[in-house]
Amino acid sequence: MSHVVLATASPELTATVAAATAGAYVALPQLPATPGEVLAVAGGLPEVVVLDARTAPDQVLDVAAGLTAISPGIGVVLVSDCPAEVGLAAMRAGVRDILTPAADAAEMRDALTRAAQLARPQTPTTGLPLTPDAGPAGKVITVVSPKGGVGKTTVATNLAVGLTRTVPHSTVLVDLDLQFGDVASALNLDPEYSLADAVHNPARRDTMVLKTFLTLHETGLYVLCAPESPAAADGISGDDVGRLLQALASQFQYVVVDTAPGLNEHTLAALDQTTDPVLLTSMDVPGVRGLRKELDTLTDLGMFPEGRFVLLNFEDPAGGLSIADVEATIARDVDLTLPRCPAVPASVNQGIPLLQLGGKKNPMTRQLGRLVERFAGVPTLVARPGRRRGRHRGVKVGA
Ligand SMILES: Nc1ncnc2c1ncn2[C@@H]1O[C@H](COP(=O)(O)OP(=O)(O)OP(=O)(O)O)[C@@H](O)[C@H]1O
Ligand SMILES: [Mg+2]
Repeated sequence: MSHVVLATASPELTATVAAATAGAYVALPQLPATPGEVLAVAGGLPEVVVLDARTAPDQVLDVAAGLTAISPGIGVVLVSDCPAEVGLAAMRAGVRDILTPAADAAEMRDALTRAAQLARPQTPTTGLPLTPDAGPAGKVITVVSPKGGVGKTTVATNLAVGLTRTVPHSTVLVDLDLQFGDVASALNLDPEYSLADAVHNPARRDTMVLKTFLTLHETGLYVLCAPESPAAADGISGDDVGRLLQALASQFQYVVVDTAPGLNEHTLAALDQTTDPVLLTSMDVPGVRGLRKELDTLTDLGMFPEGRFVLLNFEDPAGGLSIADVEATIARDVDLTLPRCPAVPASVNQGIPLLQLGGKKNPMTRQLGRLVERFAGVPTLVARPGRRRGRHRGVKVGA
């Protein structure tokens, strides 16, 4: 089921709603003649319906009245050139809000939020309360490392893009490196909202509202970026992080979490919600010792589900450490290694993850593809050469 339906033929209004919902809406490109057309496109009871009432206001008001008669919990928002004229009839039809076509994305978002909030008490069964038992939860895959600069963001962004390519619209990436997160830069995003907005919004328990704070990447990946200012991290508690990840896991098949180095309050809260921790380290003695300590600490805290995955980055045969040495030190198997690869810094500087870039496969993209397969369970798709940005076609990598 989709929660916001927009019925309009206007590209401008479509752009406003797309911006207000971060693309999380379904479009009906003409005015519906019956409420049934709206329900059909929504695939069930929508939460909010935006109806463009500029061309045939009477028909639109009939549809609005029909929708609210079917379920008083559907929040109908009208867009009208003359709100004063349609006001009384709209009220009688159960319309929640009327906006003029001049409304910008922020005003539209506020109207959608209000309409959804008003809808909630009347339709507890169509709402999506963010409780721990809401819906079948997706996988929460959290990438952690004891030390900085070992490739967490590289791994998290590529894994998230790879999962999205494999299962479209399945994945949200959360930048939990709240002070110095650089997911936005690694994905070349300029987010309007950050994680701080998402956890502080009064309507944060509403998944529809939460989705409006996500930034849509060109691959179809949803992203919740870190706050702009490092100081904003102070106002975000471990409980906030826990609730946020629960909410996202109720809506997405995969929630990939990038973290700050070490085990701070936010990372521990994320690990509490994590189904699949990915433990990452560089292949050198300090890194491997750090990983051993981290593993021991988490085991002592009882925070280790069976699905843990140990990943070694910067594999270098000339570095004097073998995989066997590493496994002996951490007393666990290594699941996957990533080679040192000059294409990685170049892709980070471009803001295009390797699995989004086309071109020849190299050992790093092959290994990243295997990482994605491990979580998606199917062969990975990466961009077809020459179709780099904004395209969703792909070819199989690895086997
Ligand atoms: N396999 C690799 N080969 C070459 N360079 C790599 C590889 N993995 C990561 N890098 C580079 O190492 C640097 C650190 O990577 P990244 O930012 O992903 O680490 P991080 O663990 O997220 O760091 P921080 O703890 O500071 O957030 C980046 O410049 C990245 O391009
Ligand atoms: Mg990082």
